[in-house]
Amino acid sequence: MKTTLILLAILALVALCAIAGCRLSGKHSTEATVALTAKPSGRIAIVYYSQSQVQNTALVAKWIQKHVGGDLVPVEMVESYPEPYGETLRAVKKHHDAGTHPPIKPVPSLDGYDIVFLGSPIWYGTYAQPLYTFFDSTALEGKIVAPFCTHGGGGAGKFFDDVRKACPNAKVLDGLTIRGSNQIERRLGMGVTAHSSEDAVVEWLNRVL
Ligand SMILES: Cc1cc2nc3c(=O)[nH]c(=O)nc-3n(C[C@H](O)[C@H](O)[C@H](O)COP(=O)(O)O)c2cc1C
Repeated sequence: MKTTLILLAILALVALCAIAGCRLSGKHSTEATVALTAKPSGRIAIVYYSQSQVQNTALVAKWIQKHVGGDLVPVEMVESYPEPYGETLRAVKKHHDAGTHPPIKPVPSLDGYDIVFLGSPIWYGTYAQPLYTFFDSTALEGKIVAPFCTHGGGGAGKFFDDVRKACPNAKVLDGLTIRGSNQIERRLGMGVTAHSSEDAVVEWLNRVL
């Protein structure tokens, strides 16, 4: 009897550890529980810039691709901003204050695309610095533009207004705002990681497309 009780206690402990371990390692199901109601017609490009180690914006871009298809078009800097976070902030602030448009690697032509998803982390209340450079050479004229952003708690700021200003001859749809997560939050299953975030993406797609 005593042995059985000890065995049961050990089993219960193992089960608890497994649950806690899963939670801490962030291995949640990220499967959406909402279904896409209709696939949009037309060729789709998903243009995005994502900088941090956890790649919040890239994750949202991949969810969009998972549900509507299309081509992922990452915007990449010629020389990335330095890590860690404090140094990134300092380097970006310098560019932000000086209005610098940092060099980016060539982006493939978007001529053949009808719908362009455009994603960015929020930096100082608007889109990230490399997207200024992207807009220098890409007007997105005549396209349907679906903007999305991830942020660290401050919300989308001027992001959507600034996207509208940057592509005045595009049809800019209502955008998606998602709370990002840092590395610790990601481990705890907060921010862009839980299936609720993917659901938010699908609900947005259903609403705007
Ligand atoms: C230079 C810099 C500026 C930022 N500015 C803001 C901000 O103004 N408001 C906010 O909510 N989050 C801000 N953040 C947090 C990022 O928007 C957030 O972590 C985002 O999800 C990162 O996306 P990524 O993983 O795709 O790079 C900033 C981060 C950096 C590195």
